[in-house]
Amino acid sequence: MKILAIESSCDETATAIIENQHYLISNSISSQIKIHQKYGGVVPELASRNHLYAIIPLLEDAIKPLIKEDSKTSKAEDYAKYISENIDAIAVTKGPGLMGSLLVGVMAAKTLAMVFKKPLIGVHHIEGHIFANFLKEKTEENKTLPSYPFVCLVVSGGHTDLVYVEKESQYTYIGRTRDDAAGECFDKAARYLGLGYPGGPIIEKVAQKGNPYFLKFPKVNLRSNQEDCDLDFSFSGLKTEVTMYKEKLPINASSSSDKDRFFSRAGKRAVKNISLPDLTACLQESIVNILVDNTVKAAKKCKTNTILMAGGVSANRRLREVMASKCHENNLKLFYPPIKYCTDNAAMIAAAAYPKLLKKSFDDFNLTPASRINL
Ligand code: KG4
Ligand code: ZN
Repeated sequence: MKILAIESSCDETATAIIENQHYLISNSISSQIKIHQKYGGVVPELASRNHLYAIIPLLEDAIKPLIKEDSKTSKAEDYAKYISENIDAIAVTKGPGLMGSLLVGVMAAKTLAMVFKKPLIGVHHIEGHIFANFLKEKTEENKTLPSYPFVCLVVSGGHTDLVYVEKESQYTYIGRTRDDAAGECFDKAARYLGLGYPGGPIIEKVAQKGNPYFLKFPKVNLRSNQEDCDLDFSFSGLKTEVTMYKEKLPINASSSSDKDRFFSRAGKRAVKNISLPDLTACLQESIVNILVDNTVKAAKKCKTNTILMAGGVSANRRLREVMASKCHENNLKLFYPPIKYCTDNAAMIAAAAYPKLLKKSFDDFNLTPASRINL
């Protein structure tokens, strides 16, 4: 069975086709990074307008490699014939995300489902990210996939959540950020330091030349009497910490070379000068340690020996490295998707839709996107 999926929740228009639960047979993404870069973040109106331009070409891109080249019929007829004869369901991200962006994907999916009389499946974006861990390429027949139960750290631009998944489709939030998401912290810090957008991959690159132990950012203590909040996160303080270094006394700000840029923080603590690579490395280390500590704690609390990571920030190599080492120490199994499936894509939406196709859990044409919905 095959599913054609669409993802358009933020600034990536993406389409994909998967076959039989895990196998990805087509995957196309059009990124709007260049459009939003000059604003230092995603501009919702620009995002939805550009999804409109991209959606039809992207649907064609997903199907093109699967159509026989010797076909004599017109392109449009080829695409229509392919969908009609091969696709068993149309899946789409229903939320959370930017309303205007989601609407483009949902309307395209509804139209395809209506015209070709295929079942429609709305997928929660976070469920999609989790399912990126269950994808296989055709060449990865023997790849080991995670088994239930597990704890998943979902860590992206809009989310930092710990989700306990006892069995398929049974999700329990056990921790979440109280303020900024980890990706948002990377993005805002990068913008503040004049490094560009998206901040995560840029900070990761600059941090490679820095010393992550140069200084320790203060760890936020989420004082709470409720045991339920043990696994929550907070990142807004780290962002503020970075802005403090930038605001106070840049020593040789006239230098244009990144490695020579120094920031210092004059406050209650001693004044300390720090280079841009060291500052980004310490910020990254701090974010990574907070994520790893809570995730390992969550696995112990839920008595599972399996940890998954998902979402854009799980592409971060330092996070993967530290999480792998902590999992090894604690005898835990760790899974994370290949880097290209960590950030937004439609393959993960198709993978999450597959169990719903098997269970015939379909949506009707009243499916409405929502900017905020729970799993
Ligand atoms: O999952 P995603 O593509 O979109 C959302 O659902 O939000 O995640 C995007 C986020 C951005 O904040 C971006 O800076 C971050 O993921 N990101 C990274 C890396 N690659 C992307 N953060 C840290 N290190 C990376 N290598
Ligand atoms: Zn995402």
